[in-house]
Formats: sequence, structure tokens, C-alpha cells
Amino acid sequence: MKRGRIGLALVLAVVLVAAFTLAYAASKAPDKPVTVESKDVFKERKKAPVVFDHAKHKEAKCDACHHVYKDGKNVFKEGDEVQKCGACHKLEDQDKVLKLEKAFHKQCQDCHKKLKKEKQKTGPTACGKCHPGAKDE
Ligand code: HEC
Ligand code: HEC
Ligand code: HEC
Ligand code: HEC
Repeated sequence: MKRGRIGLALVLAVVLVAAFTLAYAASKAPDKPVTVESKDVFKERKKAPVVFDHAKHKEAKCDACHHVYKDGKNVFKEGDEVQKCGACHKLEDQDKVLKLEKAFHKQCQDCHKKLKKEKQKTGPTACGKCHPGAKDE
């Protein structure tokens, strides 16, 4: 009897810690680079996955890239749980929601290009600088 209860308490403790860790990890910007690879959407890919480093993008606010729209307004706040872009953007355009490839390129490249034009520090605009091994088209 007693042993069973201790066992149950242990299991509960482990579950709670795991849930807390997951919730925490889901809301804080990772300090290590993440590999952007939308496996659920790009089942057959043409280019290598892209390494994205939050630490190199600290000057942008979270809601410059992460969004949840309510009544046409982005209500994403720092600390909110982050969904993968491919949870909403899919292989093809759906109404106002751009297809995933365009969504990434618009978000990433538009900012890099804009800053380049303004002669500020910026990120790459050539394919191979984001997709390792790709020829710069
Ligand atoms: C600023 C970084 C960046 C640059 C520059 C860039 N891409 Fe991408 N691209 C991405 C990201 C991020 C994704 C999403 C990858 C994923 O989720 O798997 C992506 C996805 C893609 C995809 C869809 C996934 C696949 O492999 O089939 C293709 C095709 C692609 N890019 C081609 C290109 C080509 C061609 C160029 C140059 C004209 C280019 N990209 C330049 C960041 C970039
Ligand atoms: C310049 C764009 C950009 C900015 C700014 C940005 N993020 Fe991200 N973030 C991304 C991309 C892209 C991904 C990968 C999404 C995917 O895989 O579909 C991501 C993923 C994440 C993840 C999931 C990490 C994982 O391991 O799966 C978290 C959590 C996160 N961001 C939190 C934040 C927070 C908090 C901020 C603000 C302090 C922030 N991000 C700012 C682009 C950005
Ligand atoms: C919860 C669903 C959802 C997620 C997750 C999501 N989007 Fe979107 N996104 C939308 C919707 C809906 C719109 C259309 C908003 C409108 O025009 O009213 C949109 C619009 C956009 C646009 C065009 C408007 C703009 O902001 O320039 C881009 C680019 C974009 N998303 C990129 C991304 C990227 C990159 C990610 C991941 C970092 C992402 N989205 C994650 C739902 C989502
Ligand atoms: C709001 C503007 C902005 C957006 C959006 C943005 N970037 Fe950047 N990116 C920058 C700036 C500025 C730098 C230069 C940072 C530095 O050198 O310290 C940079 C640098 C980079 C670098 C080079 C990092 C290195 O190690 O030197 C890569 C790769 C990159 N970005 C990929 C991406 C991808 C992929 C996305 C879309 C998911 C993205 N960026 C979205 C502004 C942006």
C-alpha cells in the first residue's frame, strides 16, 4: 500500500517538473541556434534546413516574427507559447495566410534587404548563406 503511494507521488512529481520545464522552454527565446525545418509541411525539400539564431536577432521584438492574430491585430506577447510557423502556414496559400515558403522568405529576406538598403548591419540575402550548400541564385 505505502509503497504504491510513494510511487504515485514520485510519478506525479516527475510529471509536474516535466510540465513546468516544457512550459518554460516553450516561452523563452532559445539562446542556442535553432534549426528551422518544417518537416510536417516540406515533406520533399529542395534546400537544406536553415539555422536561425535568436541571439543574433535580439534587436527585433518577438512580435516582429511571432504572431497570433485576433481581429486583425497581432496579440503575441513575449512569454507566450510559440507555435511553429508551419502550424498555420502550409504548402499553398490559404486566403490571407501565405504559403510557408513565401512566409519565411518574406519575413527573413524583407528585413535583411531593407537593412542592407539602409546600409545597416544585416543578415544574408543569398540562398546559400541561409541554406547551406545551395548555389547562390
Ligand atoms: C534569410 C534566409 C533565407 C534566404 C536568403 C533564402 N531562404 Fe529559402 N528558406 C528560408 C527558411 C527559414 C525556410 C524554411 C525552411 C524550413 O522550414 O524547412 C526556407 C524555405 C525554402 C524552400 C522550401 C523548403 C524546401 O527546401 O523545399 C525553398 C525551395 C527555398 N527556401 C529556396 C530558396 C532559394 C532558391 C533562395 C535564394 C533565391 C532562398 N531560399 C533564400 C530562409 C532563407
Ligand atoms: C527575427 C525573427 C524572430 C524573432 C525576433 C524572434 N523569433 Fe523566436 N523563432 C523564430 C523562428 C523562425 C523560429 C522557428 C520557427 C519554426 O521552426 O517554425 C522561432 C522559434 C522560437 C521558439 C521555439 C524554439 C524551439 O526550440 O522550437 C521560441 C520559444 C521562441 N522562438 C521565442 C521567441 C521569443 C521569446 C522572442 C523574443 C524575445 C523571439 N522568439 C524572437 C523567429 C524569431
Ligand atoms: C497561429 C497561426 C500562425 C503562426 C504560428 C504563424 N503565422 Fe504568419 N500569419 C498568420 C496569419 C493568420 C496571417 C495573415 C494576417 C493578416 O493579414 O490578417 C499571417 C501573416 C504572415 C505574414 C505576412 C504579414 C507579415 O507579417 O508580413 C508573414 C510574412 C508571416 N505570417 C510569416 C510567419 C512566420 C515566419 C512564422 C513563424 C515565425 C509565422 N508566420 C507564424 C498566422 C500564423
Ligand atoms: C527585423 C529584421 C530581421 C528579421 C525579420 C530577420 N533577420 Fe536575420 N538578421 C538581421 C540582422 C540585423 C542581422 C545581423 C546580426 C549581426 O550580425 O549581429 C541578421 C543576421 C542573420 C544571419 C547571420 C547570422 C550570423 O551568424 O552571422 C542569418 C543566418 C539570419 N539572419 C537568418 C534569418 C532568418 C532565417 C530569418 C527569418 C526566420 C531572419 N534572419 C529574420 C535582421 C533580421
